[in-house]
Amino acid sequence: MTQDIITLESAHTSGVYPKRPLAIVRGKGARLWDAEGNEYIDCVGGQGAANLGHAHPAIVSAISQQAGQLITCPEIFYNDRRAELLAALANAAPAGLSRAFLCNSGAEAVEAAIKFARLGTGRSHIVACMRGFHGRTMGALSATWEPKYRKPFEPLVPGFSHVPYNDLAALDAAITDSTAAVLLEVVQGEGGVRLGDPAFLLGAQRLCRERGTLLIVDEVQTGYGRTGALFACEHHGLEPDLMPIAKSMAGGLPMGACLIGPRVGPIEKMIHGSTFGGNPLACAAALATLQVMVDENLPSRAAHLGAFLQERLRSIRSPLIREVRGLGLLVGVELKTKVTPILQGLQARGVLALPAGATVLRLLPPLVIEPSDLERVVDTIESELASFG
Ligand SMILES: Cc1ncc(COP(=O)(O)O)c(C=O)c1O
Repeated sequence: MTQDIITLESAHTSGVYPKRPLAIVRGKGARLWDAEGNEYIDCVGGQGAANLGHAHPAIVSAISQQAGQLITCPEIFYNDRRAELLAALANAAPAGLSRAFLCNSGAEAVEAAIKFARLGTGRSHIVACMRGFHGRTMGALSATWEPKYRKPFEPLVPGFSHVPYNDLAALDAAITDSTAAVLLEVVQGEGGVRLGDPAFLLGAQRLCRERGTLLIVDEVQTGYGRTGALFACEHHGLEPDLMPIAKSMAGGLPMGACLIGPRVGPIEKMIHGSTFGGNPLACAAALATLQVMVDENLPSRAAHLGAFLQERLRSIRSPLIREVRGLGLLVGVELKTKVTPILQGLQARGVLALPAGATVLRLLPPLVIEPSDLERVVDTIESELASFG
């Protein structure tokens, strides 16, 4: 069964993904099953798109109901679900972010932020951070730091520079009269689960205000409860001017949005757009997602479970662990060895997890995960490391 799926998919896929030899065919909550019926605890969490877990009944019901009503409706028309979602987003977002451009992915949300920053300031330069990740399209890639993602596609979009994360003096020096925006993450996810220093984050906001520069906080990975608050900005009282979100915002359906604050100013008609952006199907799923976040108190669940997970991981006595770090259920274990063989070993033991760079084991479980499953994850990591060390 699995081999048939692998053979068929391999014959026609683009080839850009280093795939694991598993065919995942079903999910429920924080559990996944492969085509052979083997069960796994999911700490990949759809790479951050499955904060609500798999097959959440509220999302299944919202999608099926809306699918029978209206799936697609371009934004040249108004739509009931979209109107409700825009209002709900404005209500849930950090202060001032009362408008949104709806799109279909994180990279698109970042692209929109870059374009709106250039439009709103009449300036072109964007300062981003080393180890920052913002997506793979040409604009978002120009803000992404990792050379191996950038190099093959040069020349990239001009006007981007990078400063060391958490280095306020370097940021201060990098902002000039032509800087449209500073673009950063509150926690760098892909960059190795690195936490922003509050003094840096708030200092960046202050510098932006002083220099007529806009602050873009990329919450594509940190948003939707992941770090123990609905948006990670809330931990520091950050009020960005532009905030790209995506991943879990529609319960796993593809959707992104760029939230827009008052300092961006008015946005001209026809200047940007997206065929699928704001489609009623994704809007219905996104509305249901916000409701589940509240009903099940998922941000605070992530805060508690994340603290518990980090504490348990820190109690593992292994010479292979350099550091455990994270915020909420965005957790990284920096190893003194390459992470890939460890990930393979965990998979064989029934736990699926992610890398973040070459040596960091990243755990992004659905926020609905049971504490007993997290216990099993920690025990499994402990056994796997012991068999290595
Ligand atoms: C912080 C951040 N921004 C942007 C993106 C790009 O999102 P997408 O893969 O949906 O284009 C990601 C993806 O991992 C991300 O982590």
